[in-house]
Amino acid sequence: MAGEDESQLGRKLVESRLVSADEIALCKERRRELVENGHPISLLDLLIQEGYVTRSQISRVNRAMDDDSMYRPAQQIPGFQIISKLGQGAMATVYKARQLSLDRIVAIKVLPKRLSENQEFVDRFYREGRAAAQLNHPNIVQAIDVGEAGGYHYFVMEYVDGKTVYDQLQNDKALSEGLAVKIVLQTAMALDHAHARGFIHRDVKPKNIMLGSHGEVKLADMGLAREVSDYQTAQSEAGRAYGTPYYISPEQIRGEINIDFRADVYSLGATFYHTVTGKVPFEGATPSAVMHKHLKEELVPPDHLAPTLSAGIGEVIELMMSKQRDDRYGSTRELIADLEAVARGEPPFQARKKYDRKLLEDLAKSGHIVSRANAEDLDPSITIRREQSSAKLNLFVMSLLFVISVVVNIALWVMYR
Ligand SMILES: Nc1ncnc2c1ncn2[C@@H]1O[C@H](COP(=O)(O)OP(=O)(O)OP(=O)(O)O)[C@@H](O)[C@H]1O
Ligand SMILES: [Mg+2]
Repeated sequence: MAGEDESQLGRKLVESRLVSADEIALCKERRRELVENGHPISLLDLLIQEGYVTRSQISRVNRAMDDDSMYRPAQQIPGFQIISKLGQGAMATVYKARQLSLDRIVAIKVLPKRLSENQEFVDRFYREGRAAAQLNHPNIVQAIDVGEAGGYHYFVMEYVDGKTVYDQLQNDKALSEGLAVKIVLQTAMALDHAHARGFIHRDVKPKNIMLGSHGEVKLADMGLAREVSDYQTAQSEAGRAYGTPYYISPEQIRGEINIDFRADVYSLGATFYHTVTGKVPFEGATPSAVMHKHLKEELVPPDHLAPTLSAGIGEVIELMMSKQRDDRYGSTRELIADLEAVARGEPPFQARKKYDRKLLEDLAKSGHIVSRANAEDLDPSITIRREQSSAKLNLFVMSLLFVISVVVNIALWVMYR
């Protein structure tokens, strides 16, 4: 942190009555001595080391400062009148505003100075923001504009009058099966639209799914550039109160570069899991522990936590959250078909087919099926068809034997009458 920022933060700590001006002066003096003796340390680290403040107190004050300094630039965005602050995420602050030209309410995400000064990030922010504005779907928060005012970059989007699925889960712990399926189905439709146009969301989670006051489901942050890699984002969310990497896919954790739609399917599956069971799929004391479980630990089947859950839903979630992306749905369309079936109260065809195939493969691997381990025999539909035709043959043979025995009996009766 630059010296100027540091002394500003020092002033804020005093204003917040966390430390006194004397204590700051004392620490400054002590710091000078340490620096002179070849032990450089920042004022903040010294304040923490000496036990005057904790790291979390500092980050709270830091965020309040960010807010103060961002509210002013947000109010100077030409053509928009800021109404109120809607929320704050790890990367930016979101405001409710009136777009004066069209006299409509919009939401504006304003990036902090730190990001606005990162040219490589800003370029990506504009490129991806402009591309996202081409998307148009009832379940995607519409991107409207990107721009810059007073050195701050911003992203204008459709305003959703409602709350996030995260907020809803804070209230209700778990959602009803019907509502959860509706939310996941509509989010899958949003993703299908985006996937078909080459967009991968990469951050599907309850905080990015909004529920409008008329029951509409809207996926937010589509096409919003990320500051760092998915793994780094998840790691840096660590000590902050923003959440931990509960929904990230194994391949994003591994830092793979060719992330595709299946990463979104995994994250939506983890979100589905949370909405119906009231628990995130993997918990852990640190982000690394959670991520390790995404990679290695077997998922507790959702119906073990929610015994009344329809069997089909559990199967869909488990397939969405397969560790290997090849084992997940082959397309977002297939997922939608299963979700629609589940919504109608029917079994999920794709999930069941994959499940049966996997079972047969496992049996083949364990030696229970020895001679039929070729691909054709591992297709359950072929096995079912084969069983059906052999049943028909049995019936035919039995009927034939019955007719022959009747004819023979009649002949014997006629002969010996
Ligand atoms: N289009 C919108 N309409 C209304 N409110 C919104 C809109 N977009 C975001 N918000 C509100 O602003 C909050 C902050 O959003 P933001 O995307 O910055 O962070 P987040 O998704 O909540 O968290 P994180 O940064 O950890 O991903 C959201 O939680 C939501 O309450
Ligand atoms: Mg968001």
